[in-house]
Order: sequence, then C-alpha cells, then structure tokens
Amino acid sequence: MTGEAGEDGKDGKDGKDGANRLLFWAMAGKMTELLFEADGAGLLGGLADGLDEAELVGRTGWNPEALASVLEVFRRAGIVTPGGGRPRLAPGVETALPLVAAEARLAAWHRDNGSLARALAGEGGSDPLDAPQPSAVIRGFAEAMGQAARGTALMVRRLARRAADARVLDLGGADGAVAMALAGAWPAATFTVVDRKPLHAPFGQRLGAEPALAARIRFAAHDLRHPQSLAALIGAADVILLLNVLHLLPEAGIDALLGEIRAHARAGCTVVLRELTADGGGDLAPLFLIDWLRCGSCFRDDAGAFARRLVRAGFPAPRELALAGAPDRFFMVEVP
Ligand SMILES: C[S@@+](CC[C@H](N)C(=O)[O-])C[C@H]1O[C@@H](n2cnc3c(N)ncnc32)[C@H](O)[C@@H]1O
Repeated sequence: MTGEAGEDGKDGKDGKDGANRLLFWAMAGKMTELLFEADGAGLLGGLADGLDEAELVGRTGWNPEALASVLEVFRRAGIVTPGGGRPRLAPGVETALPLVAAEARLAAWHRDNGSLARALAGEGGSDPLDAPQPSAVIRGFAEAMGQAARGTALMVRRLARRAADARVLDLGGADGAVAMALAGAWPAATFTVVDRKPLHAPFGQRLGAEPALAARIRFAAHDLRHPQSLAALIGAADVILLLNVLHLLPEAGIDALLGEIRAHARAGCTVVLRELTADGGGDLAPLFLIDWLRCGSCFRDDAGAFARRLVRAGFPAPRELALAGAPDRFFMVEVP
C-alpha cells in the first residue's frame, strides 16, 4: 500500500488508487486496535499454541461468532492461513509476536503522553526510555528487539571478519542480545554493551541464562546524547557496533557521536553501522519514521547521504551491504 504514483503523474484510474491508499492508511488503525485486543486476550498466543476455535473461545472468553469474524479478518490480512479447519498462524508470523506486545505498550504510552502532537509542535521528542517505566515494559521492549539478534550477528560477522578475539563495543546494544549472539561465534572476544540504565536489568536477565558468557560481557550505562563520556570505551575497542541506533539521536547528536568515535578510536578499529535509510523499501519503512518523530528525531538520510555523513566525520570509503529482503542497510568503515 505504499506504492508511488504512476509515472505520468496520474494515480491510476480516476485517482482511485490514491483514494484507496489514503483510506487504507486512515482505517489501518482499526486493524492495529484489533491486533492489540487479540494479543491482550491471548488469541495470538493461542493460535501460536495451535488451539482450535473452541479452545480459542475458552482462552479469550470471546463470543464464538465474534471470534469467527476476527479469524476471517486475519485470514484476509494474511496473518492466519486461508481455508477452514483448525486456524493457524501464517508462516513467519510467530517470530513477530513479541514485537506486537511491545508495540501495544509503547503505543499506549505515546498516546497517553501526547508524544506525536508535542513533537510536531516542536516541543521536543518523547522517548519512553527517558521516563520511568514498569519493568515489564522494559523487558518486553528488550525481548522484542532481541528477536532479530541472531540474524544481525550473522551480518556483523560478514563485515567484521577478523574480529574473533576483538574487544567489541556495542553502542545502543539494548539488553546485549546481539553481543551474546556474537560471543558464541567469537569465543575469544570480549564485549561492552552500552545503553541507558533501564536496559541494565534485562541485560542481567539475558546474561543469567548464559552464565558462561559472564566473564566476557559487561554492561555500561551511558546516554549516547552525551558522547564525551564514552572516550575511554571507544579508545579501548577493536570493533564498534552502532546498529539501528543513530536515527534515534537528534541530528547534532548523530554527528557528535561519530566525531567522538573518530577522535578516540584506535587506527584500524572497525565500525559497523546499521540504518534504515530513506531509500530503504518495505511497507514498514514509513511507519518507523513516525516512531522516530515521536522520539524527536527527523532522521531521513538516504544511503548516499548517510555514507557522505560518515566521510564528513572522517571515515573514508564506507562499505555498504544491503540486507536481502530487509529495508535497512549495513555500513562498515575502518578508522584510518
Ligand atoms: C532499535 S534499538 C537497537 C538495539 C540493538 N542495537 C539491535 O540492533 O538490536 C535502539 C537501542 O538504542 C538505545 N538508545 C537510544 N537512544 C539512546 C541514548 N540516548 N543513549 C543510549 N542508548 C540509546 C535504545 O535504548 C535501544 O536499546
């Protein structure tokens, strides 16, 4: 539904495509509302557990006719496989379920906080992690981000090949999911995960499940908007990761952090970055921009602008790697 207008500048037959696109997005909130209800009532979990309709009625407490309608909506939307019989989640859907739960909590927080209206009025962004949050919210957020950790670690390994015994600094590394996935592949490497204080507890929980890694991975609480405090950590690293983080910082903060890395990183240090750039595809891409706006960021570099930003910060010849099937890109630079 995010297609562009036709080349002739007209939008299909009598502008109907444009009207449909507008109406689709205007009404998409209904599906969001239903998904959050379905998740809260245990329907999505019940589908993941393979329950039949009668069992789903038992789990959700919903009216059977209403449940049948909801399943039909989900079938038409491609969330549940088509056809009768026992309803099943479509392939791949299950992996995103923790994200739905986290999204529901964050959406409620932003709504109550009036985040979008405030950001649009220039009253500053509202990052939920800057405000006190129940620990379940932080844990859900960390768990949702951790879903992609294994795939992310694979990409990092492709870019930073000689890092098996490196000292790795993961800036904005959340609860350490990516660092812990990398630690398995690089058994002699050590890791410092930097994120804000609320992520420390989820980091401890994740590490608790992998006690063998405790000697090699630590957490350091820092705010990347004040990068001066990172000089010593940057100077001690062989590999620095900045994965899906820079776009969350204010414009000047992005360049300040890159400048701090350039000023303190050792020659030969590898920096791996991941960003959803404005020329990245996929239906989700414009929705992420709304997320960032709420957090006070107006990041919209395309891949070329982002590479030029790296060069301006003193990192020549950035290497870029597009991720098959994903809208975001990896970049790699070596500190000269
Ligand atoms: C989208 S997540 C990416 C997490 C991880 N790097 C990954 O790729 O899975 C962004 C992370 O950056 C962190 N972050 C955002 N702004 C930050 C700041 N000002 N200081 C420290 N961490 C920050 C968030 O807390 C979050 O953990």
